[in-house]
Amino acid sequence: MTKQTVLTGITTTGTPHLGNYAGAIRPAIQASRRDDAHSFYFLADYHALVKNQDPAAVHQSTLEIAATWLAMGLDPERVVFYRQSDVPEIPELTWILNSVTAKGLMNRAHAYKAAVQANEEGGNKDPDKGVTMALFSYPVLMAADILIFNAHKVPVGRDQKQHVEMARDIAQRFNHVYREIFVLPDAVIDDNTAVLSGLDGRKMSKSYNNTIPLFAPAKRLRKLIMKIKTNSLEPGEPKDPADSTLFDIYRAFATPQETASLREQYAAGIGWGDAKQALFEYLDALLQEPREEYERLIARPAYLEEMLQAGADKARDIARPMIADVRDAVGIRPLG
Ligand code: TRP
Repeated sequence: MTKQTVLTGITTTGTPHLGNYAGAIRPAIQASRRDDAHSFYFLADYHALVKNQDPAAVHQSTLEIAATWLAMGLDPERVVFYRQSDVPEIPELTWILNSVTAKGLMNRAHAYKAAVQANEEGGNKDPDKGVTMALFSYPVLMAADILIFNAHKVPVGRDQKQHVEMARDIAQRFNHVYREIFVLPDAVIDDNTAVLSGLDGRKMSKSYNNTIPLFAPAKRLRKLIMKIKTNSLEPGEPKDPADSTLFDIYRAFATPQETASLREQYAAGIGWGDAKQALFEYLDALLQEPREEYERLIARPAYLEEMLQAGADKARDIARPMIADVRDAVGIRPLG
């Protein structure tokens, strides 16, 4: 059996939080241990520029995300782990793909449409106010990320599904206009991965400012957990796990047995303070070792850099012949 290539990118904005871990990092690391796939994970730092023009923040986030994946157990020997900007073949392919991508396709992209809609609703005369070319053509860069390695499967969140479908459309168009070069990728959406709730009960997300950083020091972790929204039921009153952010978060990390036991404690009327303390102790124990490893890695940026360079070497061994083939197909070749 030929191995399937599985690839996914992580935009380098922000500090990884519990929701990122349960929803993306944990399933990706588990998948990377399978033998039937060749896994590619990369830090999408060019994509980060679309949302963040603070150089220090982009740089810091790259460091934190690289350290997080390794601290959580990603094995860089087993997978190709690299930084997008270290593979110049990606932006090169992006330009070539631009030439077979219909502007109308990009007009339909959700992120762009949402920006236009916000302008219209805000009464702006210019529907494109604040829209950069990078935001508009974001899906083309993402297509290049995927197509340069001929990825078959692209695990993403639901919000990115349309982008992967666009990558497929663009690949199809290129194959039709020139020759069959690209594998047509499929998005993989796992409905079982946890969508974690945040401090206020809405989805845990940086944009809601309701996150719990994965590697918050113990004291801060406890403080944040104590802030999780609950209702006004008193100790002794039975509580409904189906309507509890605390329970959701616990369940996303605990074993089924542990979860069942907490469910019983809810029925028996555990007080919210005790439930919070239990969640804190559970997460603190679970995260203690990776947190120490994370701190060690963050303190050794040169080591991380070396690791990313080794990853980029592996990635470029594949990207180089690919871009040579693409250039040849479009007629960009030596004259004699
Ligand atoms: N756009 C993705 C996100 O915001 C990140 C990403 C960039 C990506 N390039 C990719 C994901 C290629 C999968 C494949 O989550």
